[in-house]
Amino acid sequence: MRINQNISELKPSATLLINEKVKELRGMGHQVTHFGFGQSPFPIHNAIVEELKNNASNNHYLPVNGLEQLRQQVSNFLSEHQGIQSASDLIFIGPGSKELLYQSVLIVEGHFIIPKGSWVSYIPQIKSKGGTYSVLETTLEDNFKLTANCLEVYLSESSHKEHILVLNSPNNPTGAIYSDAEYESLAAVCRKYKVIVFSDEIYSQINFSNTHSPSISKYYSERTIVFGGLSKVFSAGGYRLGFMSLPKELKKLSVVYSSLFSETFSCVSSPVQYAALKAYEYSKELQDYVATSAAILNGISSYIYNELSKCAIQCTTPQGSFYMMVGFEKFKEHLTSLKIDSSTKLSHHLLKNYGVALLPGSDFGFESNELFFRMAFVDFDGEKVMEAYKKEIKIDKLFIKENCLSIYKGVQQLIKFTREIG
Ligand SMILES: Cc1ncc(COP(=O)(O)O)c(C=O)c1O
Repeated sequence: MRINQNISELKPSATLLINEKVKELRGMGHQVTHFGFGQSPFPIHNAIVEELKNNASNNHYLPVNGLEQLRQQVSNFLSEHQGIQSASDLIFIGPGSKELLYQSVLIVEGHFIIPKGSWVSYIPQIKSKGGTYSVLETTLEDNFKLTANCLEVYLSESSHKEHILVLNSPNNPTGAIYSDAEYESLAAVCRKYKVIVFSDEIYSQINFSNTHSPSISKYYSERTIVFGGLSKVFSAGGYRLGFMSLPKELKKLSVVYSSLFSETFSCVSSPVQYAALKAYEYSKELQDYVATSAAILNGISSYIYNELSKCAIQCTTPQGSFYMMVGFEKFKEHLTSLKIDSSTKLSHHLLKNYGVALLPGSDFGFESNELFFRMAFVDFDGEKVMEAYKKEIKIDKLFIKENCLSIYKGVQQLIKFTREIG
């Protein structure tokens, strides 16, 4: 049997592999801090669960593009809570934003541009259709955000006719958020070269200093497709519901999407679409729940940032999502002398000898010899921490030690590591 070569060359995702390894080590009784797996630690809000239960007997297929009411609700949500103007007939509901991104990768032709420090799945999705891509350089000083200048230089020299830029903010893996000013400059370059932008805003409301994050669509609506969903903001990854919003200028793509949807997933589960209506109503209660989650993640990331920065571990400044990049470049010489010369080797070393699971930067567009890692700071019981936070409203070392012990231990182990090799 022959297998499509584009697919057979894909590797199992690093996230899943490390997850298996952590399970195995924990099963053997080892203490491991799991900074590898990026799932929201918080319980899904009861109002959404109740709505799912109320609709459990709904066995109907729904319209291919999604429940009319839900598309309207998402459109309202985008304008009121994300600063994005959209039309409900150009909102599409799919089984997770990952699937919608993938179908978009399949549909839109062109050369993909991925900033260094991007989500693990973009490149495999492009490869699976035999597409081409370039990874553009970003630096720690810019929190690994793509600059307008870098994009301009690249596009002015590129021989490709059409380009698709994939942006993600708040970012997985860096935790960085593009500012309005940064988006405005990027938009000017995109407009000049007629670039299509896939704007992955799945973490929009997990912003540590605001209720939502800026969107490039505000400055470049005509060629930007916005993606979002229930998984992160509403802690409902397993519900598998995402949305995308097409600009009116790309309306002709609607029929293409509908055709591909109807030949692939047909529609998202009906009870889940009704539950999503509740989420996107975004009552005051739900807004408070999201704000509390973001405040907790902010407190934990600040603690980690301060502790690790003190011992020469480089860190991106966490601004949103539940990730940051940490770097051991300052220990490179010593590590190389120990034959630990790649992020993959160092991640194995840290897991085996210090019980700390981090994902190597090479899965996020970094060179294999750059000693950067994605740290997901969600290895705690979100329900318990939410309760404790309501009483204390202050996250300090003591709070972390009492309520997020695994994270506390992981940080201590990383400090120990730097002392031992430093
Ligand atoms: C940046 C980013 N985009 C998209 C997704 C996919 O989310 P979902 O398919 O659950 O909507 C994830 C999930 O980890 C992510 O981190």
